[in-house]
Amino acid sequence: MKIHIIGGGNLGVSIAIGISKFSKNNQVTLTRRNTASILDLEQLKISVSSDNTHMIQQADVIILTIKPYQVDVVLDEILPVISNKIIASAVSGLNIEALQSKIGDTNHAIRIMPNIAAQFGESATCISFEEKDREQAQHVISLFQDIGTASIIDEKLMDAATVLGACGTAYALRYIRASMQAGIEIGFDAQTALAIAAQTVKGAAQMLLEEKVHPEQLIDRVTTPQGCTIVGLNEMEHHGFSSSLIKGIKTSLKQIKG
Ligand SMILES: NC(=O)c1ccc[n+]([C@@H]2O[C@H](COP(=O)([O-])OP(=O)(O)OC[C@H]3O[C@@H](n4cnc5c(N)ncnc54)[C@H](OP(=O)(O)O)[C@@H]3O)[C@@H](O)[C@H]2O)c1
Repeated sequence: MKIHIIGGGNLGVSIAIGISKFSKNNQVTLTRRNTASILDLEQLKISVSSDNTHMIQQADVIILTIKPYQVDVVLDEILPVISNKIIASAVSGLNIEALQSKIGDTNHAIRIMPNIAAQFGESATCISFEEKDREQAQHVISLFQDIGTASIIDEKLMDAATVLGACGTAYALRYIRASMQAGIEIGFDAQTALAIAAQTVKGAAQMLLEEKVHPEQLIDRVTTPQGCTIVGLNEMEHHGFSSSLIKGIKTSLKQIKG
């Protein structure tokens, strides 16, 4: 397929690199108004342009990775030159009904919520679509399966998906940063502390994903009775570890819903 990504910022670049590395049969075009910072992507065979309509007619899927207030300007530019296209939008807060009314009945609106780990083939992408667009959505699903996982969700949960899957990257990184800081306090240099903390999180996630068990089952394997793990874990819980995470996630959701 030919994929045309409009909005070469944090997310657009991650998806473009992910596709170029992990979805080899697909070709990517990436646009933004100021291309200076993304020109080096051409080395990965990603075609870069400041013209949103450049090569758009050949595209099978158009991905929007722009901010909500940039949508109307971009659509005004591209709609006169396209028809019967799949438009996959990662724009936060723009629902399928609103997108469909903007792009007209001749194009297909699919809503996606990927994250920036797409660059490493590890995005946790959520996808919603209307039943009439199931066939077209399948192309988008396959694409995002190449660069991570793709979960089809009810559109009602898209804000929740934004928090858990996209904002979630930042929450996980903050956990790693805190572990790293503790690692330095107990004797490691920063680089070693970071390497151990990050790999430990990656290993824990890998175990969960492969064994498909509840986290507590794996925690039981690490916690010796009266041992150092359980006392540390309980101390964290006494200070609100799980509770603060849950409250933070709910606060992010409240902010999105406005
Ligand atoms: N970042 C994430 O982790 C993430 C995750 C899920 C969803 N999202 C959603 O994805 C969207 C993009 O987020 P982001 O963090 O990637 O934002 P960003 O870094 O600001 O990227 C937006 C890009 O759009 C480009 N742009 C603006 N106007 C344009 C136009 N008329 N034509 C072509 N390109 C244009 C901008 O570059 P120029 O100014 O050079 O044109 C900029 O590089 C947002 O709606 C966000 O909510 C983001």
